[in-house]
Amino acid sequence: MPRGLFITLEGLDGSGKTTQIKRLAAWMQRRKIDPVVTRQPGGTATGDRIRALLLDSGATPVAPMTEMALMFADRAQAIAEVIEPALASGRVVLCDRFTDSTEAYQGGGRELGSAAVLTLHRVLCGDLQPDLTLLLLPSLESSLDRARRRNERQNAQGHQDEGRFESEQEAFFRRVWLKYREIAAREPERVVLVEGNLTVDEVHEQIVEAVSERLVVAGHPA
Ligand code: TYD
Repeated sequence: MPRGLFITLEGLDGSGKTTQIKRLAAWMQRRKIDPVVTRQPGGTATGDRIRALLLDSGATPVAPMTEMALMFADRAQAIAEVIEPALASGRVVLCDRFTDSTEAYQGGGRELGSAAVLTLHRVLCGDLQPDLTLLLLPSLESSLDRARRRNERQNAQGHQDEGRFESEQEAFFRRVWLKYREIAAREPERVVLVEGNLTVDEVHEQIVEAVSERLVVAGHPA
C-alpha cells in the first residue's frame, strides 16, 4: 500500500483557507479521491477540548509557552489518531493548519522563536513533514484589512471568543506574516506561496495546479 499524501493549508486569520479547503476537497471527490479533511487545533475528541481551552478567551488567558505546548499536544494526538493512520492506509490528508501555524503564531507572533517550535516538532511530532503546504498570503496590508474586518464582524455578532488574536495589535499580525514569508523562503520545495490579491476562483486554480502536480508525482490519478 503506497503511503498517502499529506497536504496542509496555512495563512493568516481571514485568508480564506476554510473556503479553499472545502473547494479542494470537492475537486478531489469529483476525481474519485476521498480525502481526510481535518483542522488544527481540533479534529479529535482530545483536540476539540484543547481547542476550546485555547480559543475561549473568556477563560483564564494562557501564557505563550502554555499556548505553544497545547498546540503541540493537540497536534501529537491528531497525528496518532487521524493523520498517520490515514497516510499509512494511502489516503490523502487535507489539514487546515499544522506546525507552520505554531512557528508563525507562537514562534513569530508571540516571539518564542522558530528554534523551540522546530525542536518540539521533532520530539513530539516525529518531525512529520507535509508533502505540500499551500500558504495563502496576500499582501501584508490586505491581510491586516481582512483580519480587522473579520474581527469587527465577529464582535458585532457577539462572538468575542474568536477575537483572541484579532484583538491584539497589528504588530502581532505583522510578525506572523513575516514568519510565514520566512518559512516559505526557507522551504520552497514544500511550501507553495499563493500571494497577491486574487479572487476565490483564482486562488482555487493555483491550488489545483500545485496539488495536481503532487498527485501525479505520488501516483494518484489527477
Ligand atoms: P480558527 O478559528 O481555526 O482560525 P482560522 O479559521 O483562521 O484557521 O482558529 C485557529 C487560531 O489558532 C488562529 O488564530 C491561529 C491559531 N493557531 C496558533 O496560534 N497556533 C497553532 O499552532 C495553530 C494550529 C493555530
